[in-house]
Amino acid sequence: MAELERRVKLWRGGRLATLAGEQGWGLIDDGALLVDGDQLRWVGPSADAPAADEVVELHGALVTAGFVDCHTHLVYDGNRANEFEQRLLGASYADIAKAGGGIRSTVAATRAASEADLLASATRRAQALMREGVTTLEIKSGYGLDAATEARMLRVARQLQSLGLDVRTTYLAAHALPPEFTNADDYITAVCEWLPELRAAGLVDAVDAFCEHIAFSPAQTARVFDAAQALGLPVKLHAEQLSDQGGAALAAGYRALSCDHLEYLSPAGIQAMAAAGTVAVLLPGAFYALRETQLPPIQQLRDAGVPIAIATDHNPGSSPTLSPLLMLNMACVLFRLTPEEAWRGLTVNGARALGLRDRGQLVAGQRADFCVWDAGHPRELAACFGHNPLTERVQQGMQGAV
Ligand code: NIG
Ligand code: FE
Repeated sequence: MAELERRVKLWRGGRLATLAGEQGWGLIDDGALLVDGDQLRWVGPSADAPAADEVVELHGALVTAGFVDCHTHLVYDGNRANEFEQRLLGASYADIAKAGGGIRSTVAATRAASEADLLASATRRAQALMREGVTTLEIKSGYGLDAATEARMLRVARQLQSLGLDVRTTYLAAHALPPEFTNADDYITAVCEWLPELRAAGLVDAVDAFCEHIAFSPAQTARVFDAAQALGLPVKLHAEQLSDQGGAALAAGYRALSCDHLEYLSPAGIQAMAAAGTVAVLLPGAFYALRETQLPPIQQLRDAGVPIAIATDHNPGSSPTLSPLLMLNMACVLFRLTPEEAWRGLTVNGARALGLRDRGQLVAGQRADFCVWDAGHPRELAACFGHNPLTERVQQGMQGAV
Protein backbone atom coordinates (compact mmCIF):
# COMPACT_ATOMS: atom_id res chain seq x y z
CA MET A 1 0.00 0.00 0.00
CA ALA A 2 2.76 2.40 1.02
CA GLU A 3 4.50 1.66 -2.28
CA LEU A 4 1.35 2.51 -4.24
CA GLU A 5 1.03 5.85 -2.47
CA ARG A 6 4.63 6.81 -3.06
CA ARG A 7 4.39 8.80 -6.27
CA VAL A 8 7.38 10.33 -7.97
CA LYS A 9 6.68 13.94 -8.84
CA LEU A 10 8.47 16.11 -11.36
CA TRP A 11 8.50 19.88 -10.96
CA ARG A 12 9.57 21.25 -14.33
CA GLY A 13 10.06 24.53 -16.19
CA GLY A 14 11.38 26.55 -13.25
CA ARG A 15 14.41 28.76 -12.76
CA LEU A 16 16.38 26.87 -10.13
CA ALA A 17 18.86 28.63 -7.83
CA THR A 18 20.52 25.44 -6.59
CA LEU A 19 23.42 26.98 -4.61
CA ALA A 20 25.26 23.76 -5.53
CA GLY A 21 28.97 23.78 -4.69
CA GLU A 22 30.76 26.32 -2.51
CA GLN A 23 29.95 29.44 -4.50
CA GLY A 24 27.74 30.85 -7.22
CA TRP A 25 23.97 30.75 -7.54
CA GLY A 26 24.04 27.44 -9.41
CA LEU A 27 21.28 28.69 -11.71
CA ILE A 28 19.50 26.26 -14.01
CA ASP A 29 17.15 28.06 -16.39
CA ASP A 30 14.25 25.85 -17.39
CA GLY A 31 15.22 23.38 -14.70
CA ALA A 32 13.43 20.47 -13.07
CA LEU A 33 13.36 18.65 -9.73
CA LEU A 34 12.38 15.01 -9.37
CA VAL A 35 10.91 14.41 -5.93
CA ASP A 36 10.79 10.85 -4.64
CA GLY A 37 9.13 10.67 -1.22
CA ASP A 38 10.93 13.19 0.97
CA GLN A 39 14.07 13.39 -1.20
CA LEU A 40 15.28 15.15 -4.31
CA ARG A 41 16.21 12.25 -6.55
CA TRP A 42 17.32 14.24 -9.60
CA VAL A 43 17.94 17.94 -10.42
CA GLY A 44 18.79 19.28 -13.89
CA PRO A 45 17.50 20.79 -17.15
CA SER A 46 13.82 20.05 -17.83
CA ALA A 47 14.76 18.66 -21.25
CA ASP A 48 16.74 15.83 -19.62
CA ALA A 49 14.27 15.05 -16.83
CA PRO A 50 13.38 11.41 -16.10
CA ALA A 51 9.79 10.18 -16.25
CA ALA A 52 7.50 10.69 -13.25
CA ASP A 53 4.03 9.71 -12.03
CA GLU A 54 2.98 13.34 -11.83
CA VAL A 55 4.23 16.56 -13.42
CA VAL A 56 3.90 20.11 -12.08
CA GLU A 57 4.62 22.96 -14.51
CA LEU A 58 6.44 25.88 -12.89
CA HIS A 59 6.00 28.33 -15.81
CA GLY A 60 9.39 29.96 -15.24
CA ALA A 61 8.94 30.59 -11.50
CA LEU A 62 12.00 30.78 -9.25
CA VAL A 63 12.77 27.73 -7.08
CA THR A 64 15.16 27.79 -4.11
CA ALA A 65 15.89 25.60 -1.13
CA GLY A 66 13.63 26.26 1.87
CA PHE A 67 14.94 28.61 4.54
CA VAL A 68 16.72 27.16 7.58
CA ASP A 69 16.16 29.59 10.46
CA CYS A 70 18.95 28.37 12.73
CA HIS A 71 18.51 30.70 15.73
CA THR A 72 15.15 31.52 17.34
CA HIS A 73 13.55 31.86 20.75
CA LEU A 74 10.07 31.15 19.39
CA VAL A 75 8.32 29.72 22.48
CA TYR A 76 7.37 32.30 25.13
CA ASP A 77 4.51 34.34 26.51
CA GLY A 78 4.09 38.09 26.86
CA ASN A 79 5.70 40.83 24.84
CA ARG A 80 8.25 43.53 25.51
CA ALA A 81 7.01 46.50 23.48
CA ASN A 82 7.39 48.57 26.66
CA GLU A 83 11.15 47.96 26.45
CA PHE A 84 11.11 49.13 22.87
CA GLU A 85 9.74 52.43 24.16
CA GLN A 86 12.35 52.55 26.94
CA ARG A 87 15.14 52.00 24.45
CA LEU A 88 13.80 54.77 22.22
CA LEU A 89 14.06 57.04 25.25
CA GLY A 90 17.70 56.11 25.70
CA ALA A 91 17.83 52.99 27.93
CA SER A 92 20.14 50.25 26.63
CA TYR A 93 19.36 46.52 26.39
CA ALA A 94 21.89 45.96 29.20
CA ASP A 95 20.35 48.73 31.39
CA ILE A 96 16.91 47.12 31.08
CA ALA A 97 18.30 43.66 31.85
CA LYS A 98 20.16 44.92 34.93
CA ALA A 99 16.94 46.55 36.19
CA GLY A 100 15.21 43.15 36.11
CA GLY A 101 13.49 43.53 32.73
CA GLY A 102 14.61 41.92 29.50
CA ILE A 103 14.87 38.13 29.53
CA ARG A 104 13.64 37.98 33.14
CA SER A 105 10.36 39.67 32.25
CA THR A 106 9.71 37.07 29.54
CA VAL A 107 10.64 34.34 32.05
CA ALA A 108 7.90 35.55 34.43
CA ALA A 109 5.29 35.55 31.65
CA THR A 110 6.41 32.16 30.28
CA ARG A 111 6.37 30.46 33.68
CA ALA A 112 2.80 31.67 34.18
CA ALA A 113 1.61 30.35 30.80
CA SER A 114 0.07 26.92 30.25
CA GLU A 115 1.54 24.47 27.78
CA ALA A 116 -1.56 24.93 25.60
CA ASP A 117 -1.17 28.71 25.56
CA LEU A 118 2.52 28.45 24.72
CA LEU A 119 1.71 26.03 21.92
CA ALA A 120 -0.99 28.30 20.50
CA SER A 121 1.20 31.40 20.33
CA ALA A 122 4.27 29.50 19.09
CA THR A 123 2.12 27.87 16.38
CA ARG A 124 1.05 31.28 15.08
CA ARG A 125 4.67 32.44 14.99
CA ALA A 126 5.90 29.28 13.30
CA GLN A 127 3.17 29.61 10.67
CA ALA A 128 4.28 33.18 9.97
CA LEU A 129 7.83 31.90 9.37
CA MET A 130 6.51 29.10 7.17
CA ARG A 131 4.55 31.61 5.06
CA GLU A 132 7.92 33.17 4.22
CA GLY A 133 9.50 29.86 3.26
CA VAL A 134 11.02 28.40 6.45
CA THR A 135 11.23 24.61 6.29
CA THR A 136 13.70 23.98 9.16
CA LEU A 137 13.51 25.90 12.42
CA GLU A 138 15.73 25.89 15.48
CA ILE A 139 14.06 26.84 18.76
CA LYS A 140 15.83 27.50 22.06
CA SER A 141 14.55 27.13 25.59
CA GLY A 142 15.75 29.75 28.05
CA TYR A 143 12.60 31.54 29.23
CA GLY A 144 11.83 28.90 31.86
CA LEU A 145 15.06 28.80 33.86
CA ASP A 146 13.58 26.06 36.03
CA ALA A 147 13.42 22.37 35.19
CA ALA A 148 9.66 22.22 34.63
CA THR A 149 9.34 25.30 32.43
CA GLU A 150 12.45 24.55 30.38
CA ALA A 151 10.95 21.10 29.69
CA ARG A 152 7.58 22.67 28.82
CA MET A 153 9.20 25.02 26.31
CA LEU A 154 11.12 22.19 24.66
CA ARG A 155 8.02 19.96 24.46
CA VAL A 156 6.07 22.78 22.83
CA ALA A 157 8.90 23.36 20.37
CA ARG A 158 8.93 19.66 19.44
CA GLN A 159 5.16 19.68 18.88
CA LEU A 160 5.53 22.34 16.18
CA GLN A 161 7.10 19.61 14.05
CA SER A 162 3.57 18.46 13.18
CA LEU A 163 2.92 21.73 11.32
CA GLY A 164 5.08 20.46 8.44
CA LEU A 165 8.42 21.86 9.48
CA ASP A 166 11.59 20.28 10.83
CA VAL A 167 12.23 21.58 14.36
CA ARG A 168 15.60 21.34 16.12
CA THR A 169 15.64 22.15 19.83
CA THR A 170 18.43 23.79 21.80
CA TYR A 171 18.73 23.87 25.59
CA LEU A 172 19.49 27.45 26.69
CA ALA A 173 18.83 27.35 30.43
CA ALA A 174 22.08 29.35 30.83
CA HIS A 175 20.33 32.42 29.39
CA ALA A 176 19.88 34.57 32.51
CA LEU A 177 19.97 34.18 36.29
CA PRO A 178 16.44 33.41 37.54
CA PRO A 179 15.16 35.44 40.51
CA GLU A 180 15.23 32.51 42.96
CA PHE A 181 19.03 32.24 42.63
CA THR A 182 21.50 34.82 43.93
CA ASN A 183 24.62 32.88 43.02
CA ALA A 184 25.26 32.26 39.33
CA ASP A 185 27.58 29.29 40.00
CA ASP A 186 24.82 27.57 41.97
CA TYR A 187 22.41 28.18 39.12
CA ILE A 188 24.86 26.72 36.60
CA THR A 189 25.08 23.61 38.80
CA ALA A 190 21.31 23.27 38.47
CA VAL A 191 21.43 23.90 34.69
CA CYS A 192 23.91 21.02 34.35
CA GLU A 193 21.80 18.75 36.57
CA TRP A 194 18.59 19.27 34.55
CA LEU A 195 20.18 18.41 31.23
CA PRO A 196 20.51 14.58 31.36
CA GLU A 197 16.79 14.04 31.93
CA LEU A 198 15.79 16.43 29.15
CA ARG A 199 18.24 14.74 26.84
CA ALA A 200 16.94 11.30 27.79
CA ALA A 201 13.41 12.52 26.99
CA GLY A 202 14.63 13.32 23.48
CA LEU A 203 14.05 17.05 23.88
CA VAL A 204 17.56 18.39 23.20
CA ASP A 205 19.55 18.50 19.96
CA ALA A 206 22.18 21.04 21.10
CA VAL A 207 23.19 23.17 24.09
CA ASP A 208 23.62 26.96 24.08
CA ALA A 209 24.53 29.63 26.64
CA PHE A 210 24.61 33.43 26.85
CA CYS A 211 28.23 34.35 27.62
CA GLU A 212 28.13 38.06 28.46
CA HIS A 213 28.77 40.52 31.27
CA ILE A 214 25.02 40.64 31.95
CA ALA A 215 24.69 36.84 31.79
CA PHE A 216 27.33 34.11 32.36
CA SER A 217 31.11 34.11 32.44
CA PRO A 218 33.37 31.99 30.21
CA ALA A 219 34.09 29.72 33.19
CA GLN A 220 30.37 29.18 33.82
CA THR A 221 29.80 28.63 30.10
CA ALA A 222 32.56 26.02 30.10
CA ARG A 223 30.78 24.10 32.87
CA VAL A 224 27.61 23.96 30.75
CA PHE A 225 29.63 22.83 27.73
CA ASP A 226 31.32 20.11 29.79
CA ALA A 227 27.89 18.81 30.79
CA ALA A 228 26.79 18.85 27.13
CA GLN A 229 29.94 17.12 25.97
CA ALA A 230 29.57 14.40 28.61
CA LEU A 231 26.20 13.58 27.03
CA GLY A 232 27.51 13.77 23.46
CA LEU A 233 25.53 16.92 22.66
CA PRO A 234 26.93 19.61 20.34
CA VAL A 235 27.21 23.18 21.61
CA LYS A 236 26.52 26.68 20.31
CA LEU A 237 27.03 30.07 21.93
CA HIS A 238 25.55 33.56 22.14
CA ALA A 239 28.99 35.13 21.95
CA GLU A 240 30.44 38.64 21.86
CA GLN A 241 27.05 40.31 21.37
CA LEU A 242 27.63 43.26 23.71
CA SER A 243 31.31 42.84 24.59
CA ASP A 244 34.31 40.60 23.87
CA GLN A 245 34.30 37.88 26.53
CA GLY A 246 36.47 35.42 24.59
CA GLY A 247 33.36 33.28 24.25
CA ALA A 248 33.89 32.38 20.61
CA ALA A 249 37.37 30.97 21.24
CA LEU A 250 36.03 29.04 24.22
CA ALA A 251 33.18 27.59 22.16
CA ALA A 252 35.51 26.74 19.28
CA GLY A 253 37.57 24.73 21.79
CA TYR A 254 34.46 22.56 22.19
CA ARG A 255 34.08 22.36 18.39
CA ALA A 256 30.89 24.41 18.62
CA LEU A 257 28.48 24.16 15.71
CA SER A 258 28.08 27.93 15.76
CA CYS A 259 28.81 31.17 17.55
CA ASP A 260 26.02 33.69 17.21
CA HIS A 261 25.80 37.53 17.18
CA LEU A 262 29.59 38.27 17.19
CA GLU A 263 29.57 42.07 16.91
CA TYR A 264 32.54 42.22 19.34
CA LEU A 265 34.40 39.16 17.98
CA SER A 266 38.20 39.43 18.22
CA PRO A 267 40.80 38.28 15.66
CA ALA A 268 41.70 35.41 18.03
CA GLY A 269 38.05 34.38 18.13
CA ILE A 270 37.87 34.38 14.33
CA GLN A 271 40.98 32.19 14.03
CA ALA A 272 39.66 29.74 16.63
CA MET A 273 36.32 29.49 14.82
CA ALA A 274 38.04 28.96 11.48
CA ALA A 275 40.21 26.18 12.90
CA ALA A 276 37.21 24.44 14.48
CA GLY A 277 34.88 24.80 11.47
CA THR A 278 32.44 26.76 13.63
CA VAL A 279 29.75 28.70 11.73
CA ALA A 280 29.30 32.44 12.39
CA VAL A 281 25.57 33.11 12.78
CA LEU A 282 24.91 36.81 12.20
CA LEU A 283 21.64 38.27 13.44
CA PRO A 284 20.73 41.48 11.63
CA GLY A 285 17.35 41.74 13.38
CA ALA A 286 18.97 42.12 16.81
CA PHE A 287 21.63 44.45 15.40
CA TYR A 288 18.88 46.64 13.94
CA ALA A 289 16.44 46.58 16.86
CA LEU A 290 19.13 47.40 19.43
CA ARG A 291 20.48 50.15 17.15
CA GLU A 292 23.90 48.51 17.43
CA THR A 293 26.64 50.39 15.62
CA GLN A 294 29.50 47.92 16.00
CA LEU A 295 29.46 45.67 12.94
CA PRO A 296 30.50 42.01 13.15
CA PRO A 297 33.97 41.60 11.50
CA ILE A 298 32.50 40.36 8.25
CA GLN A 299 35.47 40.78 5.93
CA GLN A 300 37.76 39.10 8.45
CA LEU A 301 35.32 36.18 8.75
CA ARG A 302 35.34 35.87 4.95
CA ASP A 303 39.13 36.08 4.81
CA ALA A 304 39.43 33.34 7.42
CA GLY A 305 36.96 31.12 5.55
CA VAL A 306 34.42 31.01 8.38
CA PRO A 307 30.99 30.05 6.98
CA ILE A 308 28.39 32.76 7.63
CA ALA A 309 24.77 31.98 8.46
CA ILE A 310 21.88 34.42 8.94
CA ALA A 311 18.84 33.89 11.17
CA THR A 312 15.87 35.82 12.52
CA ASP A 313 16.81 35.38 16.23
CA HIS A 314 13.07 35.77 16.77
CA ASN A 315 12.48 36.74 20.41
CA PRO A 316 10.25 39.29 22.15
CA GLY A 317 13.11 41.59 23.16
CA SER A 318 16.07 42.07 20.87
CA SER A 319 14.62 40.76 17.60
CA PRO A 320 10.83 40.60 17.41
CA THR A 321 10.74 39.75 13.71
CA LEU A 322 9.09 36.82 11.94
CA SER A 323 10.49 37.63 8.52
CA PRO A 324 13.42 35.68 7.07
CA LEU A 325 12.93 37.70 3.87
CA LEU A 326 13.56 40.91 5.78
CA MET A 327 16.70 39.30 7.26
CA LEU A 328 17.97 38.63 3.73
CA ASN A 329 17.60 42.31 2.97
CA MET A 330 19.05 43.48 6.29
CA ALA A 331 22.03 41.13 5.97
CA CYS A 332 22.84 42.91 2.71
CA VAL A 333 22.02 46.49 3.69
CA LEU A 334 23.32 46.47 7.28
CA PHE A 335 26.13 43.90 7.01
CA ARG A 336 26.96 44.37 3.31
CA LEU A 337 26.71 40.69 2.57
CA THR A 338 26.20 39.94 -1.08
CA PRO A 339 22.72 38.62 -1.89
CA GLU A 340 24.31 35.24 -2.58
CA GLU A 341 26.02 35.23 0.83
CA ALA A 342 22.74 36.16 2.49
CA TRP A 343 20.92 33.35 0.66
CA ARG A 344 23.60 30.83 1.58
CA GLY A 345 23.36 32.15 5.13
CA LEU A 346 19.65 31.37 5.36
CA THR A 347 19.91 27.99 3.63
CA VAL A 348 23.01 25.83 3.39
CA ASN A 349 25.05 27.60 6.10
CA GLY A 350 22.02 27.83 8.39
CA ALA A 351 21.78 24.06 8.08
CA ARG A 352 25.47 23.72 8.86
CA ALA A 353 25.00 25.82 12.02
CA LEU A 354 22.65 23.04 13.14
CA GLY A 355 25.04 20.26 12.11
CA LEU A 356 22.82 19.34 9.15
CA ARG A 357 24.30 18.49 5.75
CA ASP A 358 21.18 17.11 4.09
CA ARG A 359 19.44 20.36 3.17
CA GLY A 360 19.95 23.92 1.99
CA GLN A 361 20.85 23.20 -1.64
CA LEU A 362 18.82 21.89 -4.57
CA VAL A 363 20.99 18.84 -5.19
CA ALA A 364 20.07 15.18 -5.74
CA GLY A 365 20.15 13.31 -2.42
CA GLN A 366 19.11 16.32 -0.32
CA ARG A 367 15.75 16.63 1.40
CA ALA A 368 12.94 17.85 -0.82
CA ASP A 369 12.55 21.13 1.09
CA PHE A 370 12.03 23.94 -1.39
CA CYS A 371 10.15 27.12 -2.19
CA VAL A 372 8.60 28.50 -5.36
CA TRP A 373 8.62 32.27 -5.71
CA ASP A 374 7.00 34.73 -8.07
CA ALA A 375 10.40 36.21 -8.95
CA GLY A 376 13.01 35.90 -11.66
CA HIS A 377 16.19 35.76 -9.58
CA PRO A 378 16.96 35.24 -5.87
CA ARG A 379 18.72 38.61 -5.69
CA GLU A 380 15.29 40.23 -6.17
CA LEU A 381 14.16 38.79 -2.85
CA ALA A 382 17.19 40.29 -1.10
CA ALA A 383 16.67 43.68 -2.73
CA CYS A 384 12.99 43.94 -1.74
CA PHE A 385 11.67 44.33 1.77
CA GLY A 386 8.13 44.14 3.05
CA HIS A 387 7.15 41.97 0.09
CA ASN A 388 6.56 38.23 0.08
CA PRO A 389 6.31 36.54 -3.33
CA LEU A 390 6.18 32.93 -2.02
CA THR A 391 3.72 30.82 -4.00
CA GLU A 392 4.55 27.23 -2.90
CA ARG A 393 6.39 25.73 0.03
CA VAL A 394 7.39 22.07 -0.09
CA GLN A 395 8.76 20.30 2.97
CA GLN A 396 9.94 16.70 2.74
CA GLY A 397 8.22 16.47 -0.61
CA MET A 398 4.86 17.64 0.72
CA GLN A 399 3.13 20.81 -0.39
CA GLY A 400 1.69 22.83 2.45
CA ALA A 401 -0.74 25.71 2.49
CA VAL A 402 1.04 29.06 2.61
O1 NIG B 1 19.66 36.37 20.95
N1 NIG B 1 21.19 37.75 23.77
C1 NIG B 1 20.51 36.93 24.35
N2 NIG B 1 19.42 36.31 23.90
C2 NIG B 1 18.53 36.84 22.92
C3 NIG B 1 17.65 37.88 23.45
C4 NIG B 1 16.68 37.32 24.37
C5 NIG B 1 15.76 38.35 24.93
O2 NIG B 1 16.08 39.56 25.00
O3 NIG B 1 14.67 37.91 25.34
C6 NIG B 1 19.24 37.25 21.65
O4 NIG B 1 19.34 38.44 21.33
FE1 FE C 1 19.35 34.57 20.59
